Amino acid sequence: MRLTTRAPWRRALVNWGGAAALGLSIALPATAEDAPAVGLPFEEQVQVCGACHGNDGNSQQAGTPSLAGQPELTIVNQMIYFRERLRQNEVMTPQARGLPDAEIQALAAYYHEQPVAAPEGGPDPELKARGQQLAAQQRCASCHQSDYRGREQMPRLAGQREDYLIAAMIAYRDRTRGGPDTTMIDVMRGIDDDDIDAMAHFFTYLHAEE
Ligand code: HEC
Ligand code: HEC
Repeated sequence: MRLTTRAPWRRALVNWGGAAALGLSIALPATAEDAPAVGLPFEEQVQVCGACHGNDGNSQQAGTPSLAGQPELTIVNQMIYFRERLRQNEVMTPQARGLPDAEIQALAAYYHEQPVAAPEGGPDPELKARGQQLAAQQRCASCHQSDYRGREQMPRLAGQREDYLIAAMIAYRDRTRGGPDTTMIDVMRGIDDDDIDAMAHFFTYLHAEE
């Protein structure tokens, strides 16, 4: 699939500019503002993203996914979905607005190379075992790989924040995440909250000591 880099708001801007040339005084809509990282040197971009995702891509912030170790294509795709407002999130969508493909690619390459940090705390062995069993039954590894490190457009799940994994799975099931890839909507259909909690726990503590 090819996504156009000409976002609709760019065309809207041209129209606003045309109106201004006619002598009308118009405040630009807030949506016309680029994300804070746009055009900054790479090191400063990493700091902007790092305020939420952690400088090394291991997030310490509730609701915010770690980016460390994610496949490059996963990061690139999701950034483009946010930028084109196909995936909606009031915190993240504005952070991707207007970010050029080349800058997204460089950030994706950086985060892909960062080592995944061990999660805080330790697992509940019973919950983890139940999650492992459910994930095996549902054949999640057929796409996310046997060690759940992800591949291409399929995100890494191993070591990801538990709260984010739960929210992501619920969002697919309840069809609120958005984005052009509907694979996960089919996968999550009919899976209840308890099973989601158990699978999230398993993925988060997959490589952690018990
Ligand atoms: C103000 C906090 C904040 C900043 C700054 C921020 N993000 Fe995010 N980001 C989030 C949150 C919150 C989410 C989760 C959104 C959701 O739940 O849909 C997210 C999601 C993402 C995702 C999706 C990951 C996945 O597993 O699907 C990517 C990729 C991403 N951000 C990259 C970046 C990059 C690159 C930057 C810097 C240009 C950045 N973010 C800046 C808060 C932030
Ligand atoms: C047929 C392939 C396939 C299977 C099977 C599959 N997934 Fe996925 N999964 C994907 C793709 C593709 C994405 C990215 C979709 C998108 O762009 O939103 C994804 C995304 C996710 C995400 C979001 C991660 C993030 O960083 O935002 C979670 C969580 C997830 N899958 C969990 C699961 C679980 C749990 C199972 C088994 C019950 C499973 N997946 C089975 C292909 C698959």
